[in-house]
Amino acid sequence: MSEKVVHITVRPNGPLRVEGHIKLTDADGREWNLEGKPAISLCRCGMSDKRPFCDGAHGRNGWQCETAPPGNLT
Ligand code: FES
Repeated sequence: MSEKVVHITVRPNGPLRVEGHIKLTDADGREWNLEGKPAISLCRCGMSDKRPFCDGAHGRNGWQCETAPPGNLT
């Protein structure tokens, strides 16, 4: 995998796993310090107390969500 490629995996019933060279900012451009983190998990269920990061609340609450892309979107 190229270093410039950011790989995002939609985890089944869970977060978005983001791997690669990541820069994460809020809407005002303030940046989270991700030094030393080759990957992060971003909450997509909305229940995490540590948003935008996943804290495992999806599993504790039995959150479920379809993960496969439709048709030919690969
Ligand atoms: S996806 Fe894990 S807490 Fe939301």
